Amino acid sequence: MRRIEIFDTTLRDGEQSPGATLNIDEKLAIAHQLAKLKVDTIEAGFPIASEDDFSSVKLIAENVAGPYICGLCRAVDADIIRAWDAVKYSDKPRIHTFIATSDLHLKYKLKKSRSEVLSMAKKAVGLARSFSERVEFSCEDASRSDPKFLCKVIGAAIEEGACVVNIPDTVGYSEVDEFGKLISYIREHVENIDGAVISVHCHNDLGLAVANSLEAVRRGAGQVECTVNGIGERAGNAALEEVVMNLKTKGSYFGCDCSVDTKEIYNTSRMVSRYTGIDVQRNKAIVGKNAFAHEAGIHQHGMLANPLCYEIMSPASIGKKTELVIGKHSGRHAVVSALEEFGYSFDGDELDLIVAKIKALADKQKSVLSDDIVAIADDVLCRSSVGNRYVVLDEVKVTCGNKVGAYADVKVRIDGKMKSACADGVGPVDAATNAIKKILGPEIVLREYELKAITGGTDALADVALVVAGKDGKEYRARGLDEDIVMASVKAIVNGVNMVRRGKKN
Ligand code: KIV
Ligand code: ZN
Repeated sequence: MRRIEIFDTTLRDGEQSPGATLNIDEKLAIAHQLAKLKVDTIEAGFPIASEDDFSSVKLIAENVAGPYICGLCRAVDADIIRAWDAVKYSDKPRIHTFIATSDLHLKYKLKKSRSEVLSMAKKAVGLARSFSERVEFSCEDASRSDPKFLCKVIGAAIEEGACVVNIPDTVGYSEVDEFGKLISYIREHVENIDGAVISVHCHNDLGLAVANSLEAVRRGAGQVECTVNGIGERAGNAALEEVVMNLKTKGSYFGCDCSVDTKEIYNTSRMVSRYTGIDVQRNKAIVGKNAFAHEAGIHQHGMLANPLCYEIMSPASIGKKTELVIGKHSGRHAVVSALEEFGYSFDGDELDLIVAKIKALADKQKSVLSDDIVAIADDVLCRSSVGNRYVVLDEVKVTCGNKVGAYADVKVRIDGKMKSACADGVGPVDAATNAIKKILGPEIVLREYELKAITGGTDALADVALVVAGKDGKEYRARGLDEDIVMASVKAIVNGVNMVRRGKKN
């Protein structure tokens, strides 16, 4: 079995996804998680791009052990020096320098001749090698470059000491066989190619990033560059979880393996989605909410008889609990065991209420997945007065409209005593939040607010997810669920307050 190196560029190309800015703490947390996932290399950023990029690459180099820590730089001295200054703190530093090789980029972007680009590539690799043993060189837009010129540049980079040569399909233009042939062509026409590992870096503009990467592996590539959840420029990069699970599930087909600890895939995906704010599409391979959910009766029956009937890999193999699906025909027993699975224990009226709510939702949307079950259980917990809940919601009244300002009147019981407050706001959610804040004082700070509909239509169930912090700055995630967005928001805040209180008592 050949071992394929996994080069993760979530923190560099992934962070270039429109709308995905990560702060330095989030980047460090993701880097630690990537180390746990056991990727071979973390491309931590593009140090010359900004002070923030430099600081985060340096912080990751100083703190994250295991993988190579890599910084990206153009083929110019200042970039390379800056990249080295950031990664040199790692035990395993790596410099990744690149220049475009397609005539299109040479003419319109770089305004340089082929011979100028060739000498810039050589000089860049030479300078990078003076700092680091481990230098990767990329030919940007390789798939649209003249193959002869491409091979010339690759050969020169290896001669200067590059130990990895990366072939990007920068604009995701290649078809699978075309990209595979390009890799074979390079192997046949670059004399010193055995002096370096061939790496590939595919973009997903035509939806082929993973397929192209895997075909390249079949044709001899030894490293795949990819991102968690496939995030990245435009349509993104090859998805790490898909590349890895192809290699793991079809190892004998590829004759290859990799060192990734697949049990960390799900956690990593969730973390990247949470921090970048980019949701994972429900039917996304491997990490989508539906990836292991079986809805059709025939499938459920087959699954119970033997999961192999409908599962080519197990949810456990990516570190995910089996997806429990409650359908409209599921009984009370199925709901109780699903709740137990998530650590809830209800009985009496509360359990009746939850069963009724889950079944009502199942009627509306055919099936209820784990996340929905958790949201409903949290919702009932929020309204219940059992279990030493500090704040219990009693009543919410709001008025709002196009001719009147938003106004809310909220009543809650705090440790058994009724308290109420009224407040204005820019909208009903804001007014209700302000009223609760009036009652509670500086007890909590609202850090993040997200509203989603978990069913379709105007009668959809609103699902509000919050991040709240207590006075000590410790953060908690809380949810609220209701047909009404104001009520869902108020419930989420009340849940958040109770979590802050519980956190303090613990
Ligand atoms: O897509 C691309 O070509 C890149 C290079 C910098 C490797 O991201
Ligand atoms: Zn890229």
